[in-house]
Amino acid sequence: MATKRVGIIGYPIRHSASPAFQQAALDFKGIDAKFEAWAVEPGMVVEWMAQQDRTDLLGFGVTVPHKQEIMKVLDYVDNDAKTIGAVNTVVVSKDKRLLGYNTDAYGFLEALQEDGGFIPEGQHVLVLGAGGVSRAVCTVLLLEGVASLTLANRTVARAEALLGELNTSGAKVEAVSIEPDALTASLAAQEPKALIVNCTSLGMLHGPDEEASPLLQEMIPPTSLVFDLVYNPAETPLMKLAEAAGAKTLGGLSMLVYQGTKGFQLWTGEAAPLDIMMSAAKKAVLG
Ligand SMILES: NC(=O)c1ccc[n+]([C@@H]2O[C@H](COP(=O)([O-])OP(=O)(O)OC[C@H]3O[C@@H](n4cnc5c(N)ncnc54)[C@H](OP(=O)(O)O)[C@@H]3O)[C@@H](O)[C@H]2O)c1
Repeated sequence: MATKRVGIIGYPIRHSASPAFQQAALDFKGIDAKFEAWAVEPGMVVEWMAQQDRTDLLGFGVTVPHKQEIMKVLDYVDNDAKTIGAVNTVVVSKDKRLLGYNTDAYGFLEALQEDGGFIPEGQHVLVLGAGGVSRAVCTVLLLEGVASLTLANRTVARAEALLGELNTSGAKVEAVSIEPDALTASLAAQEPKALIVNCTSLGMLHGPDEEASPLLQEMIPPTSLVFDLVYNPAETPLMKLAEAAGAKTLGGLSMLVYQGTKGFQLWTGEAAPLDIMMSAAKKAVLG
């Protein structure tokens, strides 16, 4: 039998940690498959998919900027992915249909609860950024019953539009500007935040703003947990400021691995070796 193929599409994709920890899991389980990173330019997903031979393809992960466009080519989208409005995992079924899932929400909640020790119900939260992953994060936090959710973004209209699409489940929600003066004024009029989640790409290595933090130190309550979804570097500029403010911090690597365990199960039908994946991811990202 030929070696199976599985991979991840995105653009750019060369800094993805997924190939390292997914291949480690496949090798550990003795599955004859190769996990690759495929660079697919923006707007080219439909064309790329049409060129793929599905015979040996188990499926693939989907990252920026394709999580919504990929939905055009799918035969089935599961309910979580429909609610979130984005797909980050595609499975090729035995009859070669394309099935779409979203594992970001699972990965986020698992990391928040298991590694952050944080239960969202009844809490006041601040989410920074209103892009693809913010959609999954806000959906989960509202489903888990937060008391209030403030969504700060550079483009406020995008935050307003996102909140307008979500089921707020009785929580108080507000879209605000992430610009420091405006955000400081907004936060001064609100309950102190127990959780702050960075869903912007600020602070990401090789990104356009790798030295930047979306918040100033004085905006971070010492009693809060600051969860930065950026996973490279391990300690981001925001996390350094949060620690200086006395807050607890959590980086994005464990979320990445948790969402990857779910993908692994969907592609292979086997339980994912979490410890193997976590240590391979740490080695790939942190050296
Ligand atoms: N740990 C994990 O498992 C995991 C999973 C998914 C994503 N992530 C990370 O989360 C981050 C966001 O991913 P995404 O898929 O949501 O990306 P995205 O859809 O491109 O959204 C990017 C967000 O960052 C904001 N932003 C970008 N540059 C900015 C700047 N200079 N100043 C202020 N805001 C800025 C954007 O604001 P505008 O709306 O104004 O453009 C938008 O809210 C990335 O770093 C990604 O690596 C981590």
